[in-house]
Amino acid sequence: LRSRLPIIAIDGPAGAGKSTVARQVAQKLGLLYLDTGAMYRAITWLALQQGIDPQDQVAMAELMPTCQIQLSSLENDTESPNPWPTRVWVNQQEVTQAIRSEVVTKQVSAVAAQPIVRETLLKQQQQYGEKGGIVMEGRDIGTHVFPQAELKVFLTASVHERARRRQLDLKAQNQPPVDLEALERAIYERDRQDSSRQVAPLQKAPDAVEVQTDGLSIAAVIAKIVSLYQARLAG
Ligand code: DC
Repeated sequence: LRSRLPIIAIDGPAGAGKSTVARQVAQKLGLLYLDTGAMYRAITWLALQQGIDPQDQVAMAELMPTCQIQLSSLENDTESPNPWPTRVWVNQQEVTQAIRSEVVTKQVSAVAAQPIVRETLLKQQQQYGEKGGIVMEGRDIGTHVFPQAELKVFLTASVHERARRRQLDLKAQNQPPVDLEALERAIYERDRQDSSRQVAPLQKAPDAVEVQTDGLSIAAVIAKIVSLYQARLAG
């Protein structure tokens, strides 16, 4: 007998398409969706807002209890729970756009490397997933947050492919063009930081299914995860 509903953990490097895929998998299966990266970004936004250096451990430790994060995708009171990107609030202020800015993106790895930050968010994420019925996306869901998740997916794509996708995203958002090599370097650097930190580095869980997405459509990736999930539950 299960004590909770199933959990799907989706981990992988920046730009592999985790958010798009995780959100749609959740929608298809009628599960909640949690973007844990948005939580790390929210804290980073607050630190920058208050002029705190993300490397300053003492200041970050003081900041943590004052940071209240709210996520729209966890409010399961509508018929279709996850059709839209997650809206995010920090201490009642909406930061949905602000947490996607370049400055936040640049600093977030340093914040996510702080043990006190990880410890606090880990507990919150485990609480959100307590009852299961959720797709959780991040870097350490299958390894640390929910090592007992029913399905763990490690979503990857080559650095080149991820840079190319980022370039298309920027274009779709009417942002000034950035050359492919600069994007590749930035992605490479973030992978390096996320994989080499001391606490809960980005790592494939031994029992995760690796899905390499170069050349695969979003629909194909979603279909694959949905069928893995159904096979897992049937088994
Ligand atoms: O998925 P994202 O780019 O929004 O994540 C932002 C940063 O947060 C990323 O650089 C790594 C970190 N992160 C993490 O360390 N652990 C998670 N579970 C999710 C994100």
